[in-house]
Amino acid sequence: MTASLVYVLNGPNLNRLGSREPEIYGSQTLEDVAALVSSEADRFGLTIDFRQTNDEAELIGWIHEAVDRGADVVLNPAAFTHYSYAVRDACALVTDGGARLIEVHLSNPATREEFRHTSVVAGVATGTIAGFGSGSYLLALRALTL
Ligand code: DQA
Repeated sequence: MTASLVYVLNGPNLNRLGSREPEIYGSQTLEDVAALVSSEADRFGLTIDFRQTNDEAELIGWIHEAVDRGADVVLNPAAFTHYSYAVRDACALVTDGGARLIEVHLSNPATREEFRHTSVVAGVATGTIAGFGSGSYLLALRALTL
């Protein structure tokens, strides 16, 4: 099913973009990313629900909400990527239900510390886009139009 509603969900510490390790994540704030995502979504005719939380349970609740609404999901799980089986299992509900889930990262975790080389989400994602800064989110939206 191709849903025109897309949840764009962001995990912990991404609310600190702009001041958090700018040499890795750049100088754009999450609000900047949200604005770019919003204008790209308009171009593609997608309806976006853009959110961020530092709370694992809240993130899982939002993923369940996306499942219930039949929405596709663009997810930057942030550090949950590397160890949260609970987030992974929630992501599996999205793809098991026939919607798409694209894992995105601003940085390329494969080039960073060893613990970032593992994604417990990747195995249940439709695909992963990493290393393009805010462009990773825009590429994910583009992927959803294919
Ligand atoms: C990140 C990469 C993760 O390893 C890290 O924990 C983050 C951000 C990224 O977007 O590059 O918080 O998901």
